[in-house]
Amino acid sequence: IGKEIVVYDEVESTNSKANELLKQGYPSGTVVIADRQTKGKGRLGRTWISPSGKNLYMSIALKPGIPPKYATLLTLTSVVACTTALRRYTDIPVMIKWPNDMLIDDKKIGGILTEMKIEGEKIKSAVVGIGINVNMTEEDIPEEIKDIASSLKIYKGEDFSREILIVEIIKEFDKWYQLLEKRQRKTIIDRWMQLSGTIGRQVKIVLADRELVATAEAIDEEGRLIVKLNDGTYEKICAGDVTLLRA
Ligand code: BTN
Repeated sequence: IGKEIVVYDEVESTNSKANELLKQGYPSGTVVIADRQTKGKGRLGRTWISPSGKNLYMSIALKPGIPPKYATLLTLTSVVACTTALRRYTDIPVMIKWPNDMLIDDKKIGGILTEMKIEGEKIKSAVVGIGINVNMTEEDIPEEIKDIASSLKIYKGEDFSREILIVEIIKEFDKWYQLLEKRQRKTIIDRWMQLSGTIGRQVKIVLADRELVATAEAIDEEGRLIVKLNDGTYEKICAGDVTLLRA
């Protein structure tokens, strides 16, 4: 990971750029970084606010060659790597919210958007896009998301180096991605559970067709969230929006 690192001042989205580079023949592990994005993408078709000079926008282009059923696990692996790197560098108790949000005090400071191409029985190519609010201040955060979003700087009151963070993330990503390739899935899931603020909490889950309130119990081998409903039955969640309810 990171043998090729391509840096831009401005792109529409580092994810789209990484995908282009992969198509042009750049190797698996190529990292794309930009100072700002004009069309930053979030999960579920949302926009990712991407002002210049303050935050981290980075994508890693991969050819994982793992079965599509482990698609969620690739994202979990990535969020484990990022959270571990963040904790090491900043000393802030960053937590994970399923599947891939990074939170401080229940406010989001980072997210991951994985986009992939599946061919037959393999994930042919994947782009893992990482967005972290590093030095954004309260004034930089739009009114509508002030209650749910934060940054490293807002929490700690000091600036952090995007360069150091990039190096730390690449190092951790390299380590955890190798474990994924070696099928050390339990190691990844155990670490995810350790870092998770989701397990054991009451959560509200918005699915395409309905809403659930349940207790998050665990995640399984494929990265699905296992929840226990109030009537004692269990469900496995593959995709959806999870809100942590008050403890
Ligand atoms: C989320 O909705 O939580 C995921 C946000 C992912 C944002 C990052 S920023 C770098 C990369 N490029 C994009 O367009 N999105 C991801």
